[in-house]
Amino acid sequence: MKRILTGDRPTGNLHLGHYIGTLKNRARLQHEYETYLLVADVQCLTTNFDRPEQIKEDIYNVIAGYFAAGIDPQTANIVIQSRIPEIAELTLYYSMIVPMALLKYNPTIKSEIAAGYAKEMTYGFFGYPVNQAADITIFGADLVPVGKDQVPHIELTRKIVRKFNALYGEVLTEPRELLGEVPVLPGLDGREKMSKSLGNAIFLCDDDESIVKKIKSAVTDKSRIHPSDPGHPEVCTVFMYYRAFFPDQVPGIETGCSNAAFGCVACKKRFAENLCAFIKPMRERYFSVRNDHKFLEAAAQRGTARGRELSAATMQAVKRAMKIDYFI
Ligand code: TRP
Repeated sequence: MKRILTGDRPTGNLHLGHYIGTLKNRARLQHEYETYLLVADVQCLTTNFDRPEQIKEDIYNVIAGYFAAGIDPQTANIVIQSRIPEIAELTLYYSMIVPMALLKYNPTIKSEIAAGYAKEMTYGFFGYPVNQAADITIFGADLVPVGKDQVPHIELTRKIVRKFNALYGEVLTEPRELLGEVPVLPGLDGREKMSKSLGNAIFLCDDDESIVKKIKSAVTDKSRIHPSDPGHPEVCTVFMYYRAFFPDQVPGIETGCSNAAFGCVACKKRFAENLCAFIKPMRERYFSVRNDHKFLEAAAQRGTARGRELSAATMQAVKRAMKIDYFI
């Protein structure tokens, strides 16, 4: 069976951007691929090293979010990154062969710096794509379902794999990314990406009232002042959401908006109703397990144990290939 590895930083609850970018693909493919979902608590420290006390709660949030999105923790292996020391070990070996320039020009790192994401430029933050390459390759992943912002990290991973295999022999698997049908979901404020830290997200556990309120606040076509003004759906955030979640309604919304058959208020109301119905089963699944720490911990322990076996085997092969398997 081919393998999937992908992951999330435990920085809060999962939202619709995660769902459309990657969770939907993971839930769909979990039975076809041996799936490993990494809760990247170590990577989370790259920007949250000053508030580690929050991470544990967010691990519960993420695992409950996986469950909400239809991921079965008996099928997919949920792995806690810090519990696999081999990942840290492999990161260090990779760091010897990764040219600085490859990290410097990583567009995701650059935009994260520009967004003020890292308060301080630490060695760990700058180098986290190398750590992510270790995440992916230690599990021998063929496929990595991710949002678009992660693609540079997977390109880096492929470069590391090629260089490693050329230097030491064919040990590592070259992964490829799998993007969602909608690779980036815009935020409610119209910014390119929905993100918890930008405060423009709708969460899988949001209640109806907050969903309605958030949709009311969503940025639409700014040139449309009165409901009688013809709209431009292609610049409207809500229209992009229709495309992502209710594609069968797109033609009707597109014509109705362009012809001013209805205004933004009615269009948003209709969308919010649809979205409430869409989120309801996910929210219910989320809350059915969110406070059941025993269940969530057992899920992570089962997956982590599997992950550890696989990682230890990869690490052994890596060391043998690098000829550092002496004195054992
Ligand atoms: N960087 C990813 C994010 O911020 C999380 C992540 C960590 C990841 N390790 C991974 C994603 C390995 C894919 C593969 O969402």
